[in-house]
Amino acid sequence: MSEIRSEAVSVTIEDLSLSFGPTEVLKGINLTIEPGEFFTFLGPSGSGKSTLLRAIAGFGPMPGGRILIGDDDVTQLPPWTRNVGMVFQSYALWPHMTVRKNVAFGLEERKIPNKDIRERVNEALKLVGLLDFAERRPSQLSGGQQQRVALARTIVIEPRVLLLDEPLSNLDANLRIQMRRDILELQQELKLTTIFVTHDQEEANTTSDRIAVLDQGIIQQVGSPIELYDEPANRFVADFLGTANLIDGPLETADGTSLFESDKNHTTMFRPQDMDIQPLPGEAGPDDVLLKGRVAHREFLGNLIRYNVTVGEHSLIVDDPHTTGRQAFAKGDEVALGLDTKNIHILTD
Ligand SMILES: Nc1ncnc2c1ncn2[C@@H]1O[C@H](COP(=O)(O)OP(=O)(O)O)[C@@H](O)[C@H]1O
Ligand SMILES: [Mg+2]
Repeated sequence: MSEIRSEAVSVTIEDLSLSFGPTEVLKGINLTIEPGEFFTFLGPSGSGKSTLLRAIAGFGPMPGGRILIGDDDVTQLPPWTRNVGMVFQSYALWPHMTVRKNVAFGLEERKIPNKDIRERVNEALKLVGLLDFAERRPSQLSGGQQQRVALARTIVIEPRVLLLDEPLSNLDANLRIQMRRDILELQQELKLTTIFVTHDQEEANTTSDRIAVLDQGIIQQVGSPIELYDEPANRFVADFLGTANLIDGPLETADGTSLFESDKNHTTMFRPQDMDIQPLPGEAGPDDVLLKGRVAHREFLGNLIRYNVTVGEHSLIVDDPHTTGRQAFAKGDEVALGLDTKNIHILTD
């Protein structure tokens, strides 16, 4: 049986810059994606994620710098010689062809013998769980199934790298969760170096070995999901990944001393769950500072209660885990907040 093969390769990006006319949209990108890695470009709309992915595939304006797939410098090579597979938000299937024909199309173009085509198409359809749907047309499939056909069509050509540009965005919420798991399983089974583009932090966190956070065409930080969350390099990353208290200026503690003399170049950051909300006077743990404030707002979210607590000039977000029967504070209550100093980050931009 002819199997879908893949040999995991690295992708290296060196000093990459790229402009549309006078507008520079990628600036000084340096990145090494390891063989077999599930790597994500995460950032807001317009940050340059798709442009970077397309540059790896060979589409768009000629960039400055270098792109290597494995040891091959592909910077000057046309897309069809790079042997990368790309899946988009829109499935772009041929409506008049069966699923089997859609998946076979790329192999026919490559003049693969018919017998091998049939085996490889079957294998690809089996991998995405659609072997029983081979004779249907795309219009007879759900959105999720159509995206699976697009995936099968891409992996069947045995790409060296799989590029996915927001492939889940057209699917409804439950299906998105199922599909991201399926894509990860497929990627692990094939051990295929994969680059995934998304603006959705949950999607990035749940799938990725590592993430590059992009903003305004610049990589802000590269790391595992937990590294980025626990040790954000700057204000943008702290705010984009999860919820953060970002404090400019001093914060007064319960005993009247001033904490964190933040100046213009420093922002103090701590996460909402890193504070312990208590009735006054409050008890400080060994590494804690105590803050005093008043509950301005509260939202019950089931597993936690999210409070806005006014402390001096500042409004802090405080998350308190909720367990059955646990008492909640009310708007207007005076509270103490124990904040472990080990969880305080000083950010410089
Ligand atoms: N073909 C193009 N011509 C001119 N500007 C473009 C083109 N494609 C993208 N851009 C610009 O490049 C920037 C990055 O776009 P893009 O890579 O699509 O962002 P993302 O995928 O992160 O949303 C945006 O400011 C966008 O307007
Ligand atoms: Mg995009």
